[in-house]
Amino acid sequence: MLKKLPQSQLPILCPNEECDDAPDRLRLSDLSESAVKPLKTALGQLVIVLLSNGRPRAFDARCPHMGSNLVTAACVGGDIVCHWHGYRFSGESGALVANPNEAIMKTLRVPSVAFDPTIKPSYQLRERALEVEDGWVRVK
Ligand code: FES
Repeated sequence: MLKKLPQSQLPILCPNEECDDAPDRLRLSDLSESAVKPLKTALGQLVIVLLSNGRPRAFDARCPHMGSNLVTAACVGGDIVCHWHGYRFSGESGALVANPNEAIMKTLRVPSVAFDPTIKPSYQLRERALEVEDGWVRVK
């Protein structure tokens, strides 16, 4: 019998060597608003984004949609865009802010006894607390 694991216990997929090479701390000056940076921690792999106000934010590297590793995600306007299905998450809050599937599925989402099309999935990146000290970014 298969046991469903909570999201926090699912393995993070590592599509490339960046996972193994991820540092355990980053220089704040090495962060940019146009790219996510991987960070290896005791909590697992994280991605770090730099907001336009200069504050870094840390999120689990696992996409809450279907588990892609966000190390290879795009960073657009401070938001994190998963490369698998294009879900866009706020770099400020981790909340889902755009789902390209909505337009594609619009004509297929018809009400039935078993399906309410007004209920939309809500996905949220898990944020982790950071500290910045002497120009270094670390997870608390
Ligand atoms: S796995 Fe990230 S958008 Fe689907």
